[in-house]
Amino acid sequence: MSRIFSGIQPSGELHIGNYLGAVKNWVALQEQYESYFCIVDYHAITVPYDPEELRARRREMVVSLLAAGIDPSMATLFIQSMVPEHTELAWIFNTVTPLGELERQTQFKDKASRQESVPAGLLNYPVLQAADILLYRADMVPVGEDQVQHLELSREIARRWNARFGDGYFAEPQAKLTPSRRILGLDGNAKMSKSMGNTVGLLEEPASIWEKLRPAVTDPARVRRTDPGTPEVCNIYHLHRAISPPDVVALVETQCRTAGWGCIDCKKVLFDHMNAELTPIRARAAEVRAHPERVEQVVNDGAATARRLAGETMREVKDRMGLA
Ligand code: TYM
Repeated sequence: MSRIFSGIQPSGELHIGNYLGAVKNWVALQEQYESYFCIVDYHAITVPYDPEELRARRREMVVSLLAAGIDPSMATLFIQSMVPEHTELAWIFNTVTPLGELERQTQFKDKASRQESVPAGLLNYPVLQAADILLYRADMVPVGEDQVQHLELSREIARRWNARFGDGYFAEPQAKLTPSRRILGLDGNAKMSKSMGNTVGLLEEPASIWEKLRPAVTDPARVRRTDPGTPEVCNIYHLHRAISPPDVVALVETQCRTAGWGCIDCKKVLFDHMNAELTPIRARAAEVRAHPERVEQVVNDGAATARRLAGETMREVKDRMGLA
C-alpha cells in the first residue's frame, strides 16, 4: 500500500479553502492509503504568534480534522512537535539544501515582505516540510496548489540527499491535487487565506456564513438583475463547482447565462449546498468536543505510531551519513 502524508498549520481555524483544497481529499484517500496527517505547529511559529492561542488552536485543529472525517482507526493523526525526528531530519536536510532555492520560494518572499525582521526559520520552512514528508517516505502528498512549489523543493532535497548518501533511499514525493486546488476568498480576487481575512470557517454558524456570502463578489459585468452573466469569471460559480452536485452546477450555469436567476438567488442555492456539507461536520465537532479525553488519546496514539516509522527512517539516515 502506498503511503501519503500531509500537513496543516494550526495558525487559525480550518477554513473551507483548506477543506475543499486538501482535507476533504485526505478523508477520501485515508481508505486507500496508509495515511499520516500532521498538525504542523513548528511551521506555525515561523511568524509572530501568541503561545496560549497556539495551544488552543492545536486542540481546535484536532477537533476540526476529526469532525471533517479523519478517522483515527484508518489514519495516523498527530502533532508535529510531539515527534522530535521532524526537526532532526530538517537539520540534516539543511546541509544539502541550496540557499538560492529557499530564497526563490514565493511563500517565503510573500511572508518575508510582510515582516520587518525575517527569522531564519521562515527561510528554512520548506526544509522542515521536506523532512515532514520524507520522514515517512511518503509517495504522495494531497495538498492545494499553493504547496506545489514546496513539493518541488522536497523532491530536489530528496534527490540531493540520495545522490550523496542514499542510492534511491527517499522516494520523490508527488503532489496530489483536486479540481478545487485553489479556492478564492469571498472577495473573489485572492486565495482564501487567514492572512487575507476572506475565509469561511469549516465550523462557522450558518447565519455568519450568509452574512459573508450575501455581499460576496460575483461577475462584475452583471450590474442589473436582468444582465446575463458569465459563470467562468464568477467566484460564486467556482464555489458551486467545488461544493454543489453536478446537476446543480449545470443549472447554475444556464440560470446565470440567461439571467434566469439573480446573483442572490444563486448565492442562496450555494448556501443550501454549503449547509448540506457543513451541518454534519458541525454536529460531529460538538460530539468530539464532548470527549476531550478521546481527543487526547488520538493525538498520543498518533504520535506513538508516527515515532515508530520516523525512528526507523532516522536510524537508516544516520547510519548512511556516518552519524551512527
Ligand atoms: P496550510 O496550513 O496553509 O494549508 C493546509 C492545506 O490547505 C490547502 N489550502 C488551500 N487549498 C485550496 N484553496 C485555498 N485557498 C487553500 N488554502 C490552503 C493547502 O494547500 C494545504 O494543502 N506548508 C503547509 C503545511 C505543511 C505541509 C507539510 C503540507 C507543512 N508540512 C508537508 C504537506 C506536506 C501549509 O502551510 O499549509
